[in-house]
Amino acid sequence: MRFGEHAQQYRTHAHVQREIAAWCGEWVEPDCRQLSALELGAGTGLFTEILAAKGFQQLTATDLSEQMVAEGNRCVPAARWEQRDAWAPLPEGYDRLYACSLLQWAVDPERVLTHWRRALPSGGRALVAIFVQGSLQEFATASGRFFPVPMRSEAEWLACFRGAGFEVLRHEVCQRVQQHESAIAALRSLHNIGAVANRKLSTAELRTMLTGAEQAHGNGEGFPLTWVTLKAELVVN
Ligand SMILES: C[S@@+](CC[C@H](N)C(=O)[O-])C[C@H]1O[C@@H](n2cnc3c(N)ncnc32)[C@H](O)[C@@H]1O
Repeated sequence: MRFGEHAQQYRTHAHVQREIAAWCGEWVEPDCRQLSALELGAGTGLFTEILAAKGFQQLTATDLSEQMVAEGNRCVPAARWEQRDAWAPLPEGYDRLYACSLLQWAVDPERVLTHWRRALPSGGRALVAIFVQGSLQEFATASGRFFPVPMRSEAEWLACFRGAGFEVLRHEVCQRVQQHESAIAALRSLHNIGAVANRKLSTAELRTMLTGAEQAHGNGEGFPLTWVTLKAELVVN
């Protein structure tokens, strides 16, 4: 994905991600003064802002992209910002892990979640929001090469959490449909936040995908783009 290249404009265009951060934030405990937290894939800090308001004893926000970390630090200076790969083993010492709109891009999420579970103490929790099957289906059905990794279903994610050794405390799915002027405008909205694969489709493949998507979903008045999100709270027993 190309998030880092779009760090400076991410906040202006990440409307769905902002809504998801607020929705996920509903499950953060109200009083976190005794807790330390690590956020992964924090981007420019849309979810970090919500965490910062909870008064954590220690709040560390991280992202793989240097540009995102710089922008996050500028936007949410209340957190400590670091560059970190969320797919690699994590340091111990945190009571809570958070990841909003990140985990769907992991090639081997069960392995990643196992790292996360091992970093937490007994009773430690992770709260995640993930795009699941059905998201961006308007493009995914028009091109089998649209996603760099397969979009997993809710059931696959629940199996993945449990396979990594977490207990699922609660989970919920919600669907949002954004309206765009056209398939091209919808695709541009994804480019604006960097939510596009590094391995680009050829011009011919892109044209075929856009034409197919417009014919299947465009209705003369606009073009819908569907986002299906799972949020889940996980605990280490
Ligand atoms: C869709 S953005 C979400 C950002 C933020 N959590 C939000 O809700 O707005 C995904 C973020 O994950 C970061 N990312 C992608 N792969 C990562 C990895 N392996 N480790 C850490 N961050 C990663 C990207 O740089 C990007 O900032």
